[in-house]
Amino acid sequence: MAEAGYLVPQKKVRLSDLRTYKAEGTRWAMLTSYDYSTTRAFAAAGIECFLVGDSAANVIFGYDSTTQISLDEMAFLAAGVVRGAGKALVVVDLPFGTYEASDEQAVRSATELIRRSGAHVVKLEGGERMAPRIAALSRAGLAVCAHVGFTPQSVDALSGFKVQGTSEDAAARLRRDVEAVVDAGAAMVVFEMVPAELAAEISAACPIPTIGIGAGPHTDAQVLVWQDMAAVPADSRRPRFVQSFGEAGQLLSEAAAAYKKAVREGSFPAAEHCF
Ligand code: KIV
Repeated sequence: MAEAGYLVPQKKVRLSDLRTYKAEGTRWAMLTSYDYSTTRAFAAAGIECFLVGDSAANVIFGYDSTTQISLDEMAFLAAGVVRGAGKALVVVDLPFGTYEASDEQAVRSATELIRRSGAHVVKLEGGERMAPRIAALSRAGLAVCAHVGFTPQSVDALSGFKVQGTSEDAAARLRRDVEAVVDAGAAMVVFEMVPAELAAEISAACPIPTIGIGAGPHTDAQVLVWQDMAAVPADSRRPRFVQSFGEAGQLLSEAAAAYKKAVREGSFPAAEHCF
């Protein structure tokens, strides 16, 4: 457990705190989370910011693609995370199909998601093409996190899970994407699967906090899907940019096997568990 006052935030983490971290060069950690109990465990470790990612489609619901998750599903998950998050900031993904059609659709979906979950920031995928949506959401009083580089909701349009920004043209496009989301009023921006050198250059010039995943060490913060961070389930394949910091999948399987054995043998429940 992290020491209170050192790693665990003592007051509510605000966007202004993340801007201060950027100015000071203090790195911080974002972690995905999808439920109350797990979020409490991560909040006790001092995680500053939770992302209720639409990666829940894969790791919670077992869908093939993030495009399959609904606003209802995201709202239920996010509400649990908010209740467990303590002082941390909670960002929630706008699911595929709930914001692309128009500014009005985006504002309606985002306000519903925030109202039902109590989350603090909405995230959407896309750079320059989503600038009008970001501006509309900002005008509606919402804080927005943009997501550029590889954008999983467009995996088919991007022809698969590919590093973005590798050619001169693609790098220029990524620079334009970040400028556009900043100008539109985004409060923070995720870079996914971008060459580390390019991410470092863009992050240094970017006035808002940058969060990397597969984007090297020079963004202001890092984000990981928690099941990747803790190796759950133990036998899953992980992308190259992931490091597992614990073997929680193995621990869970061992605990379940020990429970099953105790039930089979009749050693659980024991006298001390009985009324
Ligand atoms: O949904 C998600 O988990 C994300 C992260 C990969 C950034 O968007």
